[in-house]
Amino acid sequence: MPNYVVEVNDLHKVYPDGKEALKGLSFNVKEGEIYGLIGPNGAGKTTTLRILATILEPTSGEARIYGYDVKTQPEQVRKHLSYLPEEAGAYKYLTGIEFLEFIASFYAKNEEEKRRMIQEAWKISGLGMRIKDKIKTYSKGMLRRLLIAKTLMVHPKLAILDEPTSGLDVINSTRVRKIIKKYTREYGITVLLSSHNMLEVDYLCDRVGIIHEGRLIAEGTPGELKKKYEAENLEEVFTKIVGGEEMWEVIS
Ligand SMILES: Nc1ncnc2c1ncn2[C@@H]1O[C@H](COP(=O)(O)OP(=O)(O)O)[C@@H](O)[C@H]1O
Ligand SMILES: [Mg+2]
Repeated sequence: MPNYVVEVNDLHKVYPDGKEALKGLSFNVKEGEIYGLIGPNGAGKTTTLRILATILEPTSGEARIYGYDVKTQPEQVRKHLSYLPEEAGAYKYLTGIEFLEFIASFYAKNEEEKRRMIQEAWKISGLGMRIKDKIKTYSKGMLRRLLIAKTLMVHPKLAILDEPTSGLDVINSTRVRKIIKKYTREYGITVLLSSHNMLEVDYLCDRVGIIHEGRLIAEGTPGELKKKYEAENLEEVFTKIVGGEEMWEVIS
């Protein structure tokens, strides 16, 4: 049994156009925790998560999920995770329940498991009777809840969620955060998520890694980081590390 669910070691990614998105990224995710990879737009979060989900190949370095190498053992890696991409959509001409049935039919081993998945996802989504309406009539918040429910209903060992609350209003963001926390604990799912909103992860994450320009610049529990940098919140931790004073001069 490996020590970590996710092991990332000196990961580099250079895109074909020469853009160096990851410059030696290293971090680990422990069993059962909610780990947040947080950082501003362009920091390299999506690149990292896509490499772990085996959609993108790293240029060099190592990434393992439950000990399986993303480059040489991608099928094994995929068996252990469920991935929600940043700009995920759903078949908008299906109803919510039809969509869940469609997805469950791929994953379930039998009819009983399929029913279990659909019932669970329906509950997680909190959509009530709107589950019978076409997805194209859903608000952004409803769609995101449906997609998160779809990601969790298969009980993956690891859920990788890229910006699960981005673009949502306060009420829907809060709802999504509560769903993630409640159900991943209940089903024993380890979570690796990303967010550019450093304030929201305080509630959600057991541990965070702050990523900036393709490198991890700090890591710890939100409490540890705030204490270490004598900061009120994680946004302040970030500005203290990257030297936010220049930014203040521009504003004031
Ligand atoms: N397909 C691509 N080709 C070239 N550069 C890319 C590509 N995808 C992302 N990038 C660049 O890589 C950097 C990291 O991007 P990304 O991983 O999407 O960051 P984040 O998710 O943290 O916002 C950015 O500078 C972005 O412009
Ligand atoms: Mg991104």
